Amino acid sequence: MSTTHKQINFLRGWPSPGLLPTHLLSSACQRVLANQDEYTEMQEYGSCHGLTRLRKGLANWIGPHYGVTPDPERICITGGASQNLVCILQCFSDVNYTRAVWVVAPCYHLGCGIFEDSGFAGRLHAVPEDDEGIDLPIFDRKLQEFEKQDKEKRDQKVMHPADIVYNEYRKLYRHLIYTVPTCSNPSGLTMSLGRREGLVKLARKYDALIISDDVYDLLQWPLAAPVTQDRQAELRLPRLCDIDLSMGLSDDDPHGFGHAVSNASFSKLSGPSVRTGWAEASPVFISGLARTASTRSGGAPSQLCAAMLAEVVENGQLQRFVDETVRPTLQRRHRLMMDAIHTYLLPLGARTRVSSLNGYEIFGGYFVWLELGSESSTKFIADVLKTEENIIVGHGNLFVVHGDERSAIFDNSIRLSFSWEAEQDIEDGIRRIGQLISRMNRNREHYLQLASTSNMS
Ligand SMILES: Cc1ncc(COP(=O)(O)O)c(C=O)c1O
Repeated sequence: MSTTHKQINFLRGWPSPGLLPTHLLSSACQRVLANQDEYTEMQEYGSCHGLTRLRKGLANWIGPHYGVTPDPERICITGGASQNLVCILQCFSDVNYTRAVWVVAPCYHLGCGIFEDSGFAGRLHAVPEDDEGIDLPIFDRKLQEFEKQDKEKRDQKVMHPADIVYNEYRKLYRHLIYTVPTCSNPSGLTMSLGRREGLVKLARKYDALIISDDVYDLLQWPLAAPVTQDRQAELRLPRLCDIDLSMGLSDDDPHGFGHAVSNASFSKLSGPSVRTGWAEASPVFISGLARTASTRSGGAPSQLCAAMLAEVVENGQLQRFVDETVRPTLQRRHRLMMDAIHTYLLPLGARTRVSSLNGYEIFGGYFVWLELGSESSTKFIADVLKTEENIIVGHGNLFVVHGDERSAIFDNSIRLSFSWEAEQDIEDGIRRIGQLISRMNRNREHYLQLASTSNMS
């Protein structure tokens, strides 16, 4: 069946044009490029840690937000979360030393490829979640079991000399843990404080580095109350790197690299095109990261964008834009989507998470994760939605951990982005998804036949 419906894309996790601070960037750019003393420096190679102005501006913004002492030495400027994940892997992992990558599932689907490109294909393991985040006893058992089985293989492997595994600039970790603990992509879930503390303890026990993709932390809102600049404590849970810092040095880490890095980004604050982000961890870790060879050859990425962002961070315009435009817009979009889900999908048996953080009335990020409760796989439903309704959704198994698909399967779920489509199309899109599911229920035989004969399975 062909369709003349307008296309609605619920897969695209981009900010809609109204979420881009074009006017702020435009005037910041003009200011940066107006003064030769300043712009010459911005147009040349920069320092490896990145622009000091931006590091200080971020420390003064982010520090009070999380209740930690502002410290620019804990921050370096990056080319965004994706680019910096590669730098983290280059500096702090080694395919001959690091045994495994543990990925919270369902996972950010474009993250797996970055680990695979870095030599970890076939060594990614899914870590299951419940309503509070990682199931720690299961994870602990998995790590224990893995260590036991790995011991024999490890003894046969050529190991690096100790001074390469650990020196003043480098620490190779035995395990990597990749998570989006706040308003996760794709699940929308925020890991509780208790689970965060437990996870850092586990990382310390097994010599793991937690790579925490903190790209949605600043984009949270109360479900019903108006969005204000003052955020209640549940909208500011400590990051994993803050918890690691509060636990002090671990015995086997005298240089103080720590066990968690926050990988943050401006992509959802000022638009992805800036390709600028920041990492926060212990000063030693950050110095090591800034010494990534490709960074040393030219300095931190995105120097000119960093200068524009330094302007709008220092003068508070970006914080205001986030509080007065981005968060209220996302709150409204999320509410539109949830109201439509209640009207059109829950009566058909779908289920969804109302709050990001169990026990609190808050949400954040870009995504709603929905269990459809249908007898067909969501891959099939997504294919039929595209053909019959011209609606694009992310089917659940897009978000499995590559190479460990069987450990956590999501063929009953879909991810819906509420950040991209025009607000007036959100309800229409959800209504059309409901229509299709009702049609599938009414014409069960037809669709079962279609599923068995087409490659839409
Ligand atoms: C969890 C997560 N990490 C990283 C990114 C990409 O970040 P960046 O644009 O900074 O590379 C995204 C974008 O959707 C994301 O959802």
